[in-house]
Amino acid sequence: MDKKLKIALVFGTRPEAIKMCPLVKKLKENPNFKIITIVTAQHRQMLDSVLDLFEITPDYDLNLMKPNQDLWNLSSEIILKTKEVFDKETPDLVLVHGDTTTASMSAISAFYSRIKIGHVEAGLRTFDKDYPFPEELNRVIVDEISDLMFAPTDRAVNNLKLNSKKGIYKTGNTVIDALLYVVKNKKTSLDFIGLKSDLKTILLTSHRRENFGKPLENICLAIKDLVEKYDDIQVVYPMHLNPNVQNTARPILENIERVKLIEPLDYVPFCNLMKKSHIILTDSGGIQEEAPALGIPVLVLRDETERPEAIEFGGVKLAGTNKENIVKEVSLLLDSNQEYDKMSKSINPYGDGRACEYIEKIILEYFKIS
Ligand code: UD1
Ligand code: UDP
Repeated sequence: MDKKLKIALVFGTRPEAIKMCPLVKKLKENPNFKIITIVTAQHRQMLDSVLDLFEITPDYDLNLMKPNQDLWNLSSEIILKTKEVFDKETPDLVLVHGDTTTASMSAISAFYSRIKIGHVEAGLRTFDKDYPFPEELNRVIVDEISDLMFAPTDRAVNNLKLNSKKGIYKTGNTVIDALLYVVKNKKTSLDFIGLKSDLKTILLTSHRRENFGKPLENICLAIKDLVEKYDDIQVVYPMHLNPNVQNTARPILENIERVKLIEPLDYVPFCNLMKKSHIILTDSGGIQEEAPALGIPVLVLRDETERPEAIEFGGVKLAGTNKENIVKEVSLLLDSNQEYDKMSKSINPYGDGRACEYIEKIILEYFKIS
């Protein structure tokens, strides 16, 4: 090939940035590639903190986030604004990540522009189009129109094979690349949170659309019950900036003893906090992948997950959003060393930290670059 392969990476939310920045850095090292980063800024502050960490200045910042944005406006803006960049840059390949509105709409935009598409974190499925909403449909759409599908696990590969014969590769998840890089190279103090060293820390995160309202209310009430029941625990909840989260959690958990409601943490302190935690309660996708790599038991605050691998390996359990059930599952881990050890000694099924390297190699082979 006599000219460089032009690859555009598009991302916009915190988790996409965490999982795509290591790939941007890896691909930029290859002299055969011309890399263009396009951020939709579906998230603003939470995206910028990750860009700062990885020292990435986007080539195009579409700056689309609006307060309490809706899917219709965000989706149409992404399609229109990415088209302008694709028209100008005419990339050979567009890489998108996961299941967000940024992923699905920039993939559709690239498809309309007849550009080849690569999907990082392909093949995750619940097989229920309404759960998680709208992410399950986003994943299906992106995989359907992708030429290259980078699946993190065997299960994801098999899901993709139900629908497609070509372009499926197992690479592991780039989140493990990001996590291992941070754990190895970055340290920071957590003193500013004010946690007590003689108490066990339970880390909570919850932000999913299907948990807005009653389910999140139940989760917060379960936390209230747990700190009343156990005087040797403290709970820390870095709250997502989505107002639907903040407006439910604050009235229930503000001013409760041994519960700390804090702003979202930058990725480095958050990794350090995960490492220090005794148990993690979460509805996050990324944290379900990271915590087993750190040996921290995770209770998932959802009824189903597209990431069942860590459940099969024993590090993750579904706790749902029923208050009594959450209290029961946390109590089991606090009361029984045997249960705790079983979960904390499980294996990480999401990769060896070299996913970016594998993706690079697959792109080189696909475009026949030696
Ligand atoms: C989005 C993704 C979800 C992903 C989550 C990761 C979709 C449909 N949803 O959901 O799949 O799990 O990101 O966090 O793509 N906000 C800020 N500052 C920020 C980020 C968000 O103020 O840095 C507030 C804004 O008011 C924004 C709102 O949160 O409008 C919602 O953001 P949005 O990206 O639409 O939804 P998430 O719930 O974050
Ligand atoms: N995370 C972070 N700070 C926080 C909470 C989460 O850096 O305060 C990281 C976490 O380690 C994971 C990612 O954000 O890598 C997950 O993002 P989120 O839960 O918003 O989205 P999801 O993974 O559910 O799509």
